[in-house]
Amino acid sequence: MNIVKDPQELRERCRDWQRRGVVTGLVPTMGYLHAGHASLLRIARERAARVVASVFVNPTQFGPGEDLDAYPRDLDHDAALAREAGVDVLFTPSAEAMYAPGAATWVEVPELSKMLCGATRPIHFRGVCTVVSKLFLLVQPRLAVFGEKDWQQLAILRRMTADLGFPVEIVGAPIVREADGLALSSRNVYLTPEERAAAPHIHRGLELAASRVAAGERDAGRILAATAAYFAEKMPSATPEYLACVHPERLFALDVIDGPALFATAVKFSRARLIDNRLAGVTATPS
Ligand code: PAJ
Repeated sequence: MNIVKDPQELRERCRDWQRRGVVTGLVPTMGYLHAGHASLLRIARERAARVVASVFVNPTQFGPGEDLDAYPRDLDHDAALAREAGVDVLFTPSAEAMYAPGAATWVEVPELSKMLCGATRPIHFRGVCTVVSKLFLLVQPRLAVFGEKDWQQLAILRRMTADLGFPVEIVGAPIVREADGLALSSRNVYLTPEERAAAPHIHRGLELAASRVAAGERDAGRILAATAAYFAEKMPSATPEYLACVHPERLFALDVIDGPALFATAVKFSRARLIDNRLAGVTATPS
């Protein structure tokens, strides 16, 4: 595995692969890699002849007062995990190398970025879209793998890729969880032991919501109220920032569940803000 810091060097390497028709897979990350990231790398490894992973804590997707400086970092650990997962090139640029002084160009999908996480993180997704576009231009991958844990991010990146005509297949990867159901996240290190013990109730609450749909409940408001009550009872010290039932691709809120539906939440603990989601919904029965 090669560790490349210089965007120009990465571009040249990938251009050479592309000239030779080598299928390249890209897995963008912000590092502090865990088994969730490893599953993305495995999918890329299975689908592509060359795998590029990036580790870049992208400053433009953090708002003022967010955890940019505190975001956990451990490049030695990341390099070992990436090597083990069969990554060919680990791209670890500096912020200065990724963004020229005075950089003023953004890629944005406003319609899908206002709700859910975007409601409290108004510049977040434009930072994500911009950095992922820049990575696509550098690597020119045939496919790129993103986790369903960040469902809104995945929906936005699918839209962006289609709208800009990037010749990149966006591959969604299932959420990897701890044995007790907590979704793996680099930010789980922010949880106190008590919070860590309560946090699996995020997943359990969303599972309960999905099971109500499976049992025939169609009123999203009633299901959300029951889920909110479950969260309040099981995680009294946590505050749900949002708890919503939305259309899985277009992300607008659903009142009645008569097709595919996504339950999504962001829950704030003392330091950690954790997100999770669960696909549910009604599949059309053939008449
Ligand atoms: P990061 O939070 O490091 O996540 C990198 C990728 O790993 C994302 O596609 C995310 O959805 C996926 N991932 C994280 N936890 C996961 C889990 N438990 N199961 C499955 N996949 C998981 O998301 C970002 O970085 C950034 O916004 C980025 C796309 C790199 C742009 O800066």
